[in-house]
Amino acid sequence: MKMTFDGRVAIVTGAGGGLGRAYAMLLAQRGARVLVNDLGGDFMGQGADSSYAAAVADEIRGAGGVAIANGDSVAGREGADRIVAQAMEAWGRVDILINNAGLVTSRGPLWEMTDAQWETDIRVAATGTYQMCRAVWKQMWDRDYGRILNVSSGSFFGMGSGLGYPAAKGATWGITRALAVTADHHGKNVRVNCVMPTAASRMTHLLGEEVDSAMKRHYPPEAAAPVAAYLVHEDVPCNGEMFRIGGGRFRRVFIGITPGYRGKPAELDMETVRDNFAQAMSPEGYSIPRNSIDALDAEAGVDWAAFGAGII
Ligand code: NAI
Repeated sequence: MKMTFDGRVAIVTGAGGGLGRAYAMLLAQRGARVLVNDLGGDFMGQGADSSYAAAVADEIRGAGGVAIANGDSVAGREGADRIVAQAMEAWGRVDILINNAGLVTSRGPLWEMTDAQWETDIRVAATGTYQMCRAVWKQMWDRDYGRILNVSSGSFFGMGSGLGYPAAKGATWGITRALAVTADHHGKNVRVNCVMPTAASRMTHLLGEEVDSAMKRHYPPEAAAPVAAYLVHEDVPCNGEMFRIGGGRFRRVFIGITPGYRGKPAELDMETVRDNFAQAMSPEGYSIPRNSIDALDAEAGVDWAAFGAGII
């Protein structure tokens, strides 16, 4: 059966172009009412232009869909509250949030990076994701329904320049895990997942003409959108997961723990660490923790679960 979003209300941030536009278009084609947000600033986070969001909302309406536009920044409390209030006023609910807004201003050697670059990257991807989640969370919690998709980046695996962007994109993963674990713990029908996309966009122009034209051929934003849409659908089977998506492919990304080496607390010395380092490094027998309690040492003789129940 064809999957639809009939009756659902979605907010897609940074949807004035690139991936966000593709997500918004697909959700609308499948029946969602979509608030298209985009600040419309330049690459370095300067300026604002609400015509980008307006153009995509027009495009959706032109194709027979339902959309409204918003030109606020996600990076502050007032902007995030206004975005959510606009959707609530128009349609009375928010079922879906895709935190897609992002930019890369930090690049080059660390000694040349400015604090403004660090702060811009953190403010948009990390603070913006936090602010938008905060602004929708209570009504999703109270209505016992919500689907949130956060956007990380492959830069989180290690990127050779700039620190602000991968740091901010790591934060989106942490936010995803924290909210998913909280919703699970309280038995809420709220799912929070995360993607690391690859797609041609104005961001990939930065990589040079050759890479950009190959990206346009192999990684159109539309080839990532169906995975993003599935992850915010009612039937999504997972919570707190990360996927690498793009070019028609999707695959799970996870953080695992190896069994490592266990010594007696009072006996572990540096030489034992040296001599057993390979065992700690070996991925054999790894596990994937479901939450921070799961990631603690189950055999250490402490009732971590009792402790954990108190900190969630
Ligand atoms: P894009 O530059 O076309 O889209 C990002 C949009 O976010 C822009 O339209 C921009 O105006 C908007 N934006 C920036 N700051 C904002 C703010 N404060 N409030 C509201 N909107 C704001 O780039 P693209 O490639 O479509 O990126 C979408 C997301 O995917 C970003 O979060 C990016 O970091 C992430 N990403 C993209 C990759 C790619 O291969 N294209 C790779 C890894 C991550």
